[in-house]
Amino acid sequence: MTADFLIIGSGIAGLSLAIRAAEHGSVICLTKGDLLDSNTAWAQGGIAAVLPESLREAGDSCALHIADTLDAGAGLCHENVVRTIIEEGAATIDELVHYGVAFDAENDHFSLGKEGGHSKRRILHARDTTGREIAEALARTARNTPNLTILEDHFAIDLITTGKLGMVTDDRVLGAYVLNRKSGEVEIFRSDRVILATGGCGKVYLYTTNPDSATGDGVAMAWRAGASVANMEFIQFHPTCFYNPAANGAEARSFLVTEALRGEGAQLINQKGEDFVSQYDPRGSLAPRDIVARAIDHEIKRTGAPCVYLDVRHKPSGFMKERFPFIYQTLLRFGLDCEKDPIPVVPAAHYQCGGVVTDINGKTTLRGLYAVGEVACTGLHGANRLASNSLLEGNVLARRALQEMLAHLHPQRESEHFDIPTWEHGDTAAPDELVVIYHNWDEIRRLMWDYVSIVRTDNRLRRAATRLRNLKKEVREFYWGHRVNADILELRNLVTVASMIVDCAAKRKESRGLHYTTDHPKTKPSLAQDTRIRKF
Ligand code: FAD
Ligand code: SIN
Repeated sequence: MTADFLIIGSGIAGLSLAIRAAEHGSVICLTKGDLLDSNTAWAQGGIAAVLPESLREAGDSCALHIADTLDAGAGLCHENVVRTIIEEGAATIDELVHYGVAFDAENDHFSLGKEGGHSKRRILHARDTTGREIAEALARTARNTPNLTILEDHFAIDLITTGKLGMVTDDRVLGAYVLNRKSGEVEIFRSDRVILATGGCGKVYLYTTNPDSATGDGVAMAWRAGASVANMEFIQFHPTCFYNPAANGAEARSFLVTEALRGEGAQLINQKGEDFVSQYDPRGSLAPRDIVARAIDHEIKRTGAPCVYLDVRHKPSGFMKERFPFIYQTLLRFGLDCEKDPIPVVPAAHYQCGGVVTDINGKTTLRGLYAVGEVACTGLHGANRLASNSLLEGNVLARRALQEMLAHLHPQRESEHFDIPTWEHGDTAAPDELVVIYHNWDEIRRLMWDYVSIVRTDNRLRRAATRLRNLKKEVREFYWGHRVNADILELRNLVTVASMIVDCAAKRKESRGLHYTTDHPKTKPSLAQDTRIRKF
């Protein structure tokens, strides 16, 4: 199949780009599962934007939002990128409303929430299921957009490039090999413009807020194709995920309790009921995420308690049911009435701040390849993302990437002129060998959690690297020897992404933002630059 634009991923970045691009040419949007299976659909708190003067909180400004973002980013944000994205925030909200997103509003004014690191109320939301509201509105619009073909259950395996076809100059992307999960066949999709919108890699950790689809496929594909990747050491851990020892392992720690709750006055307390976060930062429960997650990690290790608590008992009765109904009802299902009892919480892996290196228009270092949304490293987040800046980034970059591609549209499709070999299948997997996949999958996630999470050391990073080298070898043998399926492909990507995180972390001999190591506890001004890695 051939298209003017081949978009891989159906979260906010992929779908918003697909809808706009279809006005200018044929678009194929592939997604490996269901259209609504994405991190986007799980977003709770909302989307940060500075609205026109009459609609914003008094005193707020783009300059303040920029300052908050730079402060959270700990010296690694690219200031020009931060400025551009934030200044385009209000236009992004207009577009989402145009696509049918119903943000909460009262008397013709949007209700604005607050989250950690924001000095003003500027988070637009739809109760506590903002992501679902956005994802459903975009999916509705996309399904009714002419020129746009949506293919669910289509898993992109690898990018096809001139380099992989043996050309030694002018490396560029020509399309992708894609597994049709229904037929089991691997198909060739050709396009001169391939856009990765594949989201993040939370599943590389045992405990994560991310859905199962977040396996870092886009970063791994881009890296294998020779594009630059950066800052993978900066994995953001969300401080407050519901801790429920009665539920099963990872499931118990994956339910997010939005930071917006702290924006409305919820307090983090320890088992004795003390506000412990204020000892680490004067902003207390509303300090940026890296600080709060580390404070919780330290408190848990110091006291030996399995969790800390989020307390909303002082809020008026009915407040939770009205403002945070999804969280309120979900906790009730787990047997906890948060109006009566504090909510037990622990941190879990949440967001990939690094990714495929792009400029402010989503352009990667490989010709014809673009990356938008969480998969990309634009320079907005630096060493730590400010809450609710990612939905904003996904939508703004999608628009900018399209403008960039339109400026360089060629009437002829170069990708049609190459002889692309069909996919060679390995042998069929014997069912008893599937256990190898599941074992390796668990091992990676466990070792990343134990050795490469909130607090790191040189020694643990070395151990992780040794284990990953062996796992990589095993996975490679398995990959080449068997017929591909989604599990093998995700395992291969997870081991690649885990290795990138470890390599980037080992390179950074300082503590900065989300990367904290007890062997190098200070921030070193001389190391205020991105950690870039590339395959060739
Ligand atoms: P996603 O929305 O993750 O979409 C990626 C898509 O790519 C999916 O459709 C996936 O199936 C597809 N895909 C992946 N690999 C392949 C492949 N190999 N082949 C084909 N398709 C593939 N951010 C905020 O700004 N505000 C919030 O309130 C907020 N809350 C959050 C709450 C939770 C629980 C989580 C998990 C994240 C939250 N975030 C929030 C982060 C934010 O949701 C994500 O960063 C953002 O939605 C990413 O959008 P995306 O389009 O880049 O990727
Ligand atoms: C949350 O609602 O706490 C998540 C917000 C984000 O990740 O930006």
